[in-house]
Amino acid sequence: MKVHASTVNRTDTATLRAHPFFARAMTGLIRPKMSILGMDFSGEIDLLGDDVSAFDVGDRVFGISPDTFGAHAEYLCIPAGGAIAHIPGSLPYHEAVVGEGAWYANGTTQFLSKGKRCLIYGASGAIGTAAVQLAKARGAQVVAVVGTRHIDLPVALGADRVVNYETEDFRALGEKFDLVFDAVGKTSFFECRHLLAENGIFSATDLGPGWSNIFLGMFYGAMGSRRVRIPFPENAPGFILQLADLMSKGKFQGVFDRRYPLDKTADAFRYVEKGQKTGIVVLDVC
Ligand SMILES: NC(=O)c1ccc[n+]([C@@H]2O[C@H](COP(=O)([O-])OP(=O)(O)OC[C@H]3O[C@@H](n4cnc5c(N)ncnc54)[C@H](OP(=O)(O)O)[C@@H]3O)[C@@H](O)[C@H]2O)c1
Repeated sequence: MKVHASTVNRTDTATLRAHPFFARAMTGLIRPKMSILGMDFSGEIDLLGDDVSAFDVGDRVFGISPDTFGAHAEYLCIPAGGAIAHIPGSLPYHEAVVGEGAWYANGTTQFLSKGKRCLIYGASGAIGTAAVQLAKARGAQVVAVVGTRHIDLPVALGADRVVNYETEDFRALGEKFDLVFDAVGKTSFFECRHLLAENGIFSATDLGPGWSNIFLGMFYGAMGSRRVRIPFPENAPGFILQLADLMSKGKFQGVFDRRYPLDKTADAFRYVEKGQKTGIVVLDVC
């Protein structure tokens, strides 16, 4: 496919820097094995392999390339059975690069159903903004925690209530949740466990203080419990089809920060590494 847009996201920056460090075993011991990063893509089918019937040349598609990346380049080869779907309606290419954060968010929000209560801490990043929308699409009640500059964003995405972490202590809410999701790796299980309902789950995008989320996840897992989880995402092809469906029904949309041209990719990485972006940073490839 001819790539029109991609993103620079926290998966790209973590792969470039090998963060956490043991990721080096997979991403390259001395330097990154992959010379072209880029997990999100949107673009146009340029050439088809033999026996591909689900797509035609010229089709507008989007998706993610979670194993081999490669979307920070003008052309990308994707398996027809991979994480790829048609772009719903006439959505522009730069608004269709929404897969990375949503895929991680789905690793956690998949445990929600109608009437469940969840608290999303850090609902302004790529994962947090996606988590609010996916939780609402599953019929859950959502309390979102963000800073002052993002105070209006969660409600626009469907959240039922917003807590400003700069002026209010979410830990003192006095409510119980079926899911507490730390979507920016800034809190911990021990700070949040009193907010969990019976059988409630604490999930986090990051390892936690002293890698505690890994150890707690293993500890509770050994006891047959899912109390602490790191949301390892699964089934990327199935998820991208589900996401396309939600987008076509108006139940999911990307939240976008800056756009960079391809020749400013390094600047985009520097910006994303600050951990301050709002939603998604787009790379205009062509
Ligand atoms: N290792 C990996 O492969 C990998 C891959 C993807 C994601 N992740 C992890 O997933 C997390 C989320 O990624 P993302 O792309 O969604 O994040 P992001 O877009 O970088 O999110 C940053 C957002 O978090 C907010 N924030 C910063 N400090 C905060 C705090 N103390 N409390 C609440 N909000 C805060 C920022 O706004 P304000 O500062 O204005 O509040 C900003 O909007 C990251 O921590 C990243 O490490 C890891």
